[in-house]
Amino acid sequence: MPTDLPSTGARTVTAAAAASRAPVGIFDSGLGGLSVLRAVRAQLPDESLLYVADSLYAPYGERDDDFIADRTLAIGEWLVKQGAKALVVACNTATAQSIALVREKLSIPLVGVEPGIKPAALQSKTRVAGVLATQVTLRSARFQALLDRYASDCRFLCQPGHGLVQAVERCDVDSAELRALLRSYLEPMLEAGADTLVLGCTHYPFFDAAIRDMVGDRLMLIDTSVAIARQLERVLDQHGLRAAAGDTHAPALPRFYSTDDGAHQKQLAATLLHLDAHVERVLIPSRRTAAPNSQAA
Ligand code: DGL
Repeated sequence: MPTDLPSTGARTVTAAAAASRAPVGIFDSGLGGLSVLRAVRAQLPDESLLYVADSLYAPYGERDDDFIADRTLAIGEWLVKQGAKALVVACNTATAQSIALVREKLSIPLVGVEPGIKPAALQSKTRVAGVLATQVTLRSARFQALLDRYASDCRFLCQPGHGLVQAVERCDVDSAELRALLRSYLEPMLEAGADTLVLGCTHYPFFDAAIRDMVGDRLMLIDTSVAIARQLERVLDQHGLRAAAGDTHAPALPRFYSTDDGAHQKQLAATLLHLDAHVERVLIPSRRTAAPNSQAA
C-alpha cells in the first residue's frame, strides 16, 4: 500500500502521485454548487473533494461586480492553501464576472461554468428557449458572447430568477410559494412557444422535480452539471492530476465548508444528495469583507 512520504524500505511515492492525490476544490456562492459536486462524484469517484459555500454572502446575483470578484478570488486562494490541485467555480455568476481575473491570479487549473446556450440551441425544435439565470449572469459580457455565438437562429427568452437562489439557500425546493414564483417565470416562456429551458444557475437543478411536475415534458431542461464534471475530468487528465483509481487514501465523503453556520448545507446534502455531511464553518476574509460577519456590499 502506498505511504504518504518516501521512506526507507517503503514504496516511494512520486511527486506526481502526491499531486494527483490532492483534493479538487469546488466553490459556489452557496448551496447550488452541490448540484455540480453531485455530478463530479458520479463522474470521478476517486477524487477527494473540498466544497466551500459562501452562504454568508449569497446571493451573489444581487451583488456588485467587484464584490463577486473579491469573494471568488479570496475563496480560490483559500482553497489553494488547503492544497487543492484544481478549482471548479461552480457558480455561473462568479464565472461570468470573475473567471478571467481568477485564472490570472491562481496557479492551479480552473473549470468555470456557463449557461447551456449551445446545447439548447442544438436541441430546441421550436427554436424558442427560455433561460433562467441571475441578473448578473444575464447582463455579463460572457453571456452576451454566448448568445452571439450560438443563438443566431434561436430566440432566447432571458428571465432573471429573482428569489430562486434565496429559496434553495433556505432549503425550499418545493413549497407552494416557490412553485408560484417558478410558474410566474415559466408560463410566459411556454406561451411564447419555448420547448427548452436552460437552468443557468447551479442552484436551479434542485428545482428539477418541481419544474417537471409543473410543465411535464413541455420543456426540455438543460443542466450542465454532467458536462462540467466531464470537463473537470479532461482538465485533470491534461495536467496529469487525475487521482488513481481505487486510491485507498481518497476519503469517502467530500469535506464541506461554509461561511455561515452550515445548517442548511447539511440539510440539503442530506435530502438531495443523501450525504451525512459534517459542515465546518470557515472565516475567509477578503478586501470587501475584512471584518468578520461583515455584510458589506
Ligand atoms: N449558483 C450561483 C450561480 O450559478 C448562484 C449565484 C447567486 O448567488 O446569486 O449563478
